[in-house]
Amino acid sequence: MSVYIGIDIGTSGTKAIAIDANGKILGEATASYPLHQPKPLWSEQDPEDWWKATVETVKSVVKTAQLKPSQVKAIGLSGQMHGAVFLDKHNQVIRPAILWNDQRTFEECVEIESAAGGRAELIKLVANPALTGFTAPKILWLRKNELANFERISKVLLPKDEIRRRLTGEFATDVSDASGMLLFDVAKRTWSKTLLTKLDLSSDLFAQAYESQEITGKLTAEVAALLGLTTDCVVVAGAGDCAAGAIGNGIVREGLVSTSIGSSGVVFAHSENFAVDPSGRLHTFCHAVKGKWHLMGVTLAAGASLQWFRNNLCLTDDASIYEQLTAEAKAIKAGSDGLFFLPYLSGERTPYADPDARGSFIGLTLGHSRGHLVRSIMEGVTYSLNDSLTIMRELNISIEEIRASGGGAKSALWRQIQADVFNESISLLTAEHGAAYGVALLAAVGAGAFTSIEEACDATISVRHQSKPDTTASRFYRRAFPVYQGLYHSLKDNFKQMAAVESDVNYLTAAVVDG
Ligand code: XUL
Repeated sequence: MSVYIGIDIGTSGTKAIAIDANGKILGEATASYPLHQPKPLWSEQDPEDWWKATVETVKSVVKTAQLKPSQVKAIGLSGQMHGAVFLDKHNQVIRPAILWNDQRTFEECVEIESAAGGRAELIKLVANPALTGFTAPKILWLRKNELANFERISKVLLPKDEIRRRLTGEFATDVSDASGMLLFDVAKRTWSKTLLTKLDLSSDLFAQAYESQEITGKLTAEVAALLGLTTDCVVVAGAGDCAAGAIGNGIVREGLVSTSIGSSGVVFAHSENFAVDPSGRLHTFCHAVKGKWHLMGVTLAAGASLQWFRNNLCLTDDASIYEQLTAEAKAIKAGSDGLFFLPYLSGERTPYADPDARGSFIGLTLGHSRGHLVRSIMEGVTYSLNDSLTIMRELNISIEEIRASGGGAKSALWRQIQADVFNESISLLTAEHGAAYGVALLAAVGAGAFTSIEEACDATISVRHQSKPDTTASRFYRRAFPVYQGLYHSLKDNFKQMAAVESDVNYLTAAVVDG
């Protein structure tokens, strides 16, 4: 038997999964680690924690699935995108990695757009506008704020590529993850020499970019011994977690779109050709399917909105609280009796790229119950996903089938709300194992078990249920969606004023504390 392992270096933890050549899961393991927020808006992790979690989860999978070392033919790597790992010339990590959800780089984003000759020019070079989460602004932040650290940098790697270096000794990345660095010519699938020159960054800082299924190296002897594997085990390029998750959902052909409701929400569309949103609301990145692209929109607080509600407003240890909340929400009719929820608890990425936007319930009356609040959260998050889908429709991206994934897909009610708001059938898949599964399939392709990732997905992924839109609810949501959209536009100046007041208050409080 040949076995393929997928490893996903996530933000809350690392997941490893082992599959056979039919895509059957032989074992899986997860290990968590902390997220550090040393200052407001900062978000950092220690790459050593990712490494320890990788070793722990792979060893655990090898043990529980009782794998013989020679059976494991290939490993695929996935990870949180955009994070910057800074290495010195001895391959030592210089400082904690700065992550995708770190918001410190607003000024650097402005600088990058101006160095590129404006936002439109930047989009021409790298297909995307400058967003605080992306990697390039983090490098510029280091140059401005920690010059001594910047001067020591020999390489800047993405999270999963730092793990690859430790597994194989090689510096390599893949085209989907490289796309999120804002330094990659997404149309040509290579580093943008033009932008690197304009930003005065050397191309030597970055790893060679491969197509996702390509082999980038083999395990070193030391690591093979540590993990209980062999030095014949190859490591394929893999993918950023969004593209890897999409592969795990079989999004490998034009017309296929996935929605994912995890902590964040993602709407992801396969594209045969390079297509870009000229106004930069959607991201255009290379896909993990060789020579193809994808467009995607990101809702920063999707499942996180419901989780926030449960953690803060439902004081209970009852493990079945989500089922209880869902039952209460199910008893409420579409539209939550006039209650709207804006899910901007972490600011918003698509379509507004506004770090100052804030979460809001609007339209509360004495008649509203907990079930109304929960239903309006599910509706608000779904409206936000519909914002991304609406832009895709405007850009004539083909949408033939929408596949639901992530924790939110487990809720039949939330799937039905998606079907009704989008006015499209929503498919649920037989197996939902996310990004780790996607890169395990890429590993199987790289090792020759399948001739292409399309063939691998066709052989292993199928639809088990469809939620059809309800005509009455869909008609209602068609009227309600523009009202939801209007609320952000009415409030956006207030959000800015609120942010300004908040930063004044923080400044005054800090001044009092400092004496
Ligand atoms: C994608 C994004 C997140 C991270 C974390 O653009 O920022 O999905 O990849 O998982």
